[in-house]
Amino acid sequence: MATQIQMPELRYGLSDLAPVISEETLNYHYGKHLQTYVNQLNTLIEATEYEDMVLADIIREAPAGPLFNNAGQVFNHAMYFEQFAAPVKEGEENLPTGALEEAIYASFGDFETFRQLMSDAALKLFGSGWAWLVQTENGSLKIEQYPNADNPLKHDQVPLLCIDVWEHAYYLDYQNRRAEYIQKIWNIIDWEIVAARMSVR
Ligand SMILES: [Fe+2]
Repeated sequence: MATQIQMPELRYGLSDLAPVISEETLNYHYGKHLQTYVNQLNTLIEATEYEDMVLADIIREAPAGPLFNNAGQVFNHAMYFEQFAAPVKEGEENLPTGALEEAIYASFGDFETFRQLMSDAALKLFGSGWAWLVQTENGSLKIEQYPNADNPLKHDQVPLLCIDVWEHAYYLDYQNRRAEYIQKIWNIIDWEIVAARMSVR
């Protein structure tokens, strides 16, 4: 039997991201929405040419439609849930260091400019989708908005950081206040995880 696509494990407890992301939201978003994408993907790849592929290859190969949508959403959510840690304390800064900090400065000028641009991309994305920080083929960093399940792998980019702006990501905690969700999410980014995603050139 082929290896099934697995749920990614969380690196923190379900209540550890509160008050930025509540346990209730994680129960639905991780426990129900992501689990459904994983289940649907496994059903779609069973007994097909995709069943022995790794997830990234399924995304690159899949035609537009349910297979790509479910594979993309499994990947996007795995990246999303992996990149968080408990919120920094009130008044403390949460900033990238090392090569990632240097790349952000080289591409955007300074961290605050980058944070503003990425927040705007997430806020202004119409409907459901994702804002991404990506590394391009020449090594520079760029911010992208991708609708629905689309993601950087499909565009030959290295995905570094993502903000899910599907309403299911924030509605229980922030209702229609997407801007507040985006503003708070910077307090739970684990920059070491994001830095480890960079491609070394
Ligand atoms: Fe989501």
